[in-house]
Amino acid sequence: MKITIMKTEHDFDVAAAWRIIGQMLEKPNAVIGLSTGQTTKNMHRIVSDIYKDSPFDTSKVTIFNVDELTNLDRSYPGSCYTMIYEQVIKNLGVPDENFIMPLTFSDDFDAECAKFENALQERGGADLQMLGIGWNGHIGINQPGTPFERHTWVSPMDPIFEEKVRRETKVPDDYPLGGLTRGIVDIMQTRKIVLIAKGESKAEIIEKAVRGPITTDIPASVIQLHPNCEVLLDEAAASRLR
Ligand code: GLP
Repeated sequence: MKITIMKTEHDFDVAAAWRIIGQMLEKPNAVIGLSTGQTTKNMHRIVSDIYKDSPFDTSKVTIFNVDELTNLDRSYPGSCYTMIYEQVIKNLGVPDENFIMPLTFSDDFDAECAKFENALQERGGADLQMLGIGWNGHIGINQPGTPFERHTWVSPMDPIFEEKVRRETKVPDDYPLGGLTRGIVDIMQTRKIVLIAKGESKAEIIEKAVRGPITTDIPASVIQLHPNCEVLLDEAAASRLR
């Protein structure tokens, strides 16, 4: 595992953005997985800025997000579909048919998960996953305790995140919410993973994920087993690795 530590948050954002741009330039038909959240917002803006200044052919690039909320409309501003569309897809001119996302409503989520995975496989499988990490070590929406061999599924959300979504959407407490997430085994089959984290609040979980035992208690610790993984951090997130 390669660990890259950038001096400032801004340097981290720029370096992370270039990982995406570099992948698209190296392989024009690359299949690239993104993540939503605070960590990736600036990175996505910088990707868009670089493309605006120096456009290149993005017509064959495939983009997907590692996860998506379920039982909420795609038009909810917190849906991964809307966030990635607004932050990346429309700015880069990636054709809509190359933006692969699961549906948020379904009578058969198992079939929806299989459809999502098949669509990625048909394009040759994922080349790059820019992978965020949650405060409790979750990756995608796979919470602590998720078996590493779990395939793409609808997982319960992290409770803090679920509370935020419920507050924003005002859905009743008994209305089921979850998240369709690539399974850990599917994430691990990506050719290259870049685990990204910035800020002091991620320092402890990064230490556990990178230096601690490989355990389902910390889903992100599984990346220690990946043959082509980079952990990209700013100094604040890396502060407990020294
Ligand atoms: C959510 C997303 C994850 C993301 C995580 C980190 O749970 N489903 O894919 O990695 O948030 O978010 P943040 O970058 O805001 O800390």
